[in-house]
Amino acid sequence: MTELTGPARTHTNRASLSHKIRYAVQNPDRVRPYLRRLARDCSLRLTTRDHVAYYRAVMKADAATSPSAAVGSASHERWLALGQMQFDYLIRHGLTSKDRMLEIGCGNLRAGWRFIDYLDVGHYYGIDISPEILLAAGDTLVQQRLQDKRPHLSLVRDLRLAALPDAYFTVVHAHSVFSHSPIEVIDECLAHIGRVMAPNAFFDFTYNRTDGTEHHVLREDFYYRTGTLTALAETHGLTARPMEDWDQLPHKQSKIRITL
Ligand SMILES: C[S@@+](CC[C@H](N)C(=O)[O-])C[C@H]1O[C@@H](n2cnc3c(N)ncnc32)[C@H](O)[C@@H]1O
Repeated sequence: MTELTGPARTHTNRASLSHKIRYAVQNPDRVRPYLRRLARDCSLRLTTRDHVAYYRAVMKADAATSPSAAVGSASHERWLALGQMQFDYLIRHGLTSKDRMLEIGCGNLRAGWRFIDYLDVGHYYGIDISPEILLAAGDTLVQQRLQDKRPHLSLVRDLRLAALPDAYFTVVHAHSVFSHSPIEVIDECLAHIGRVMAPNAFFDFTYNRTDGTEHHVLREDFYYRTGTLTALAETHGLTARPMEDWDQLPHKQSKIRITL
């Protein structure tokens, strides 16, 4: 589940047999980890009732080894750098300390601790489906000595956002969450996000882009065409636009911005 950097190969179908064989030949050291994930996939498919339960189990197993690796960073330096990249991007796009931010899939606060530090007291809300990663988020908060900023960190079982107030958030952020989500989870989020967004708010999310066939790898990594996601947003009365300046950064995912 590592977030590789570098330009996306947008036509590659990672679920195809030919890709798997080519990848295995070029990366023999990745074969054993892949087979371990494949075995886990077979077992979780039998024991979990839906995708959220499935992915929660993936996070539980991965966070037990390393919370930073579970959110996709191979080292602490990479964890710091990817959080900084998310923070700097939103600062360039006008984030102010007065904004009220919702971070969907906040993980162990890789970017979240920087937002909490920057925003006014109580202005950061992080939600996640994984209890283990939220415990790790608490650890990050302590390490960064940010208790006085009183962020809200909540466990959720879906993305209906039912516990959150109407028209409240001015910035909504979801980094590397829809890249791990089937279309019905994204649809659920887009169906409800408009209710919690303030009139001039925006919602940025990243996704794995393909210009070829949409596919997933072991239900952990999902690849979508941009048009699928923008059209889905429009069915919920939202406006969606691809953020081309994000594509210039050394990150393999693309970004879409949603407005009301
Ligand atoms: C790759 S991590 C990224 C974490 C954080 N956004 C960051 O950039 O460090 C994905 C996170 O999204 C959470 N997640 C996955 N699906 C979710 C969903 N449907 N609702 C809320 N959180 C979800 C996972 O538990 C995990 O913490």
